[in-house]
Amino acid sequence: MLSYQHSYHAGCLADVHKHAALCVLLDILLQKDKPLTYFETHAGRGLYDLTSADSLKTGEAKLGIQTLLKDRSIPDDYSYALLLKQIRDRYGEYYYPGSPMIAQMRLRDSDHIHLMEMHPQEVRHLRDNMAGNSAHVHHRDGYEGVLSLCPPTPGRGMVLIDPSYEVKSEYETVVRFIEKLHRKWPVGIIALWYPILESGVHLEVRKKLEAAEYPKMVVQDIMFPVLSDRPGMDGSGMIVINAPYGFEEDFEKIRSFF
Ligand SMILES: C[S@@+](CC[C@H](N)C(=O)[O-])C[C@H]1O[C@@H](n2cnc3c(N)ncnc32)[C@H](O)[C@@H]1O
Repeated sequence: MLSYQHSYHAGCLADVHKHAALCVLLDILLQKDKPLTYFETHAGRGLYDLTSADSLKTGEAKLGIQTLLKDRSIPDDYSYALLLKQIRDRYGEYYYPGSPMIAQMRLRDSDHIHLMEMHPQEVRHLRDNMAGNSAHVHHRDGYEGVLSLCPPTPGRGMVLIDPSYEVKSEYETVVRFIEKLHRKWPVGIIALWYPILESGVHLEVRKKLEAAEYPKMVVQDIMFPVLSDRPGMDGSGMIVINAPYGFEEDFEKIRSFF
């Protein structure tokens, strides 16, 4: 049974890291006119109200994106900052986009978006939040769903893998999934998010992916300030495989937000 709900964590420091990195990847992909395919294995609901009871209960958004914006830690002209402004102008000051909404707002009509989500309530919200656009919402297991649609047409594009890591076996699952995914879609960009915990469990994932020698693999671990918004989570990590040309430089700039 799924118990994780992202509404408690939306806008936390880890979201800022992951979503800013996603904006960098999308910016680079959008430099070419050719259409692309965008997948998410774990979509969530796509849009979050930071004044909701869930959000206020943890206070993660307050210590996360709201503090960074108040302190002007994110340059106004950075593409993630511009997108947040667009969201606030469209939905209201206290709304924060999930990764599906970021992708949907940045991508073009000619691009294909496939969003996988398992939780019935999150699927309902995601369908509402994606209503009126061409994104495909799939109520299905993200690992199985993405593999079944790969290799996609159009053949350029990316997969965002953003599990909740509720169970320890998920660290193994992502490694096996990436292996199968890369075999089926060797040119697809793979972006994996993981938490940095005191146990160091993420290091095992990294070691296995490094041993597989995937092409153009870029790793970024960001340690949170001592007063982290997520008790128990020391930082946030991203691994990008088949990283596009020019990605690393803009990706590195994200460090300065924290
Ligand atoms: C961390 S949240 C996703 C947040 C989202 N990517 C974002 O950044 O806005 C993880 C989501 O995965 C969903 N989920 C968990 N296991 C899944 C699975 N096997 N396949 C698809 N979705 C799953 C959960 O219900 C939850 O909504």
